[in-house]
Amino acid sequence: MKIVVRLGGSVLGSPLDPEVVKRYSDVISKVLKQGHDVVLVIGGGATARQYIDTARRMDLPPRTQDLIAIQASRLNARLVGMALGTSGVAVTLRGAVSMAEKNHIAVMGGLKPGITTDTVAILVAEAWKSDLIVKASDQEGIYDADPRTHPGAKLLRMVSYEKLVDILGGKHSPGIHRIVDPVAVQRIAENRLKLVVVNGARPENIIRAVNREKVGTTVG
Ligand code: UTP
Repeated sequence: MKIVVRLGGSVLGSPLDPEVVKRYSDVISKVLKQGHDVVLVIGGGATARQYIDTARRMDLPPRTQDLIAIQASRLNARLVGMALGTSGVAVTLRGAVSMAEKNHIAVMGGLKPGITTDTVAILVAEAWKSDLIVKASDQEGIYDADPRTHPGAKLLRMVSYEKLVDILGGKHSPGIHRIVDPVAVQRIAENRLKLVVVNGARPENIIRAVNREKVGTTVG
């Protein structure tokens, strides 16, 4: 399969944890050994948010806040890429696709203002015609309401496209923190893409999602 793996920057630890980075690179290596091709899209996590906050306090406009956050995600992507032994970070969709075609693995961070790396994962999935998107998040999966603000929220194992838009639709803002960002949600629903959201605290959840075991939330 062609698999897009979207890894939240926050999942890599805050501050970044070398053990976690290593565990993730081991898991991705295992997926590659199973014969799959992978595009790995890494988020900017706390570093991105720190830069966004500073840029905001400098009265820099939202577009500039996004641009500095993109650099943070690329830095995280480079770090994971180094653990995997890949060379360079793709900065365009075409670059990511050709890197994946050549090396079976491509690593990238952010792409352009106005989105998050969730949407980057969706855009690359479309451009590469991938079979599956796996998102490693900081929650067990998708809930019927935000579990950080609604303690009674219920974890959903299966979510239809309509329900996804219902729960997580909306608009982008710099540093937005949702389990799946609203722009990505719209595209997933429109293009009927296959997505599994798992808890990234256990990197092996990615392998379980790839092997179609029962884990996290499946959208589709
Ligand atoms: P990220 O997608 O890097 O967040 O977007 P994240 O690090 O994964 O979040 P965690 O790790 O799940 O907590 C962070 C911010 O970077 C900008 C946006 O402001 C976004 O909210 N960004 C990122 C872009 O503008 N364009 C991109 O392509 C990526």
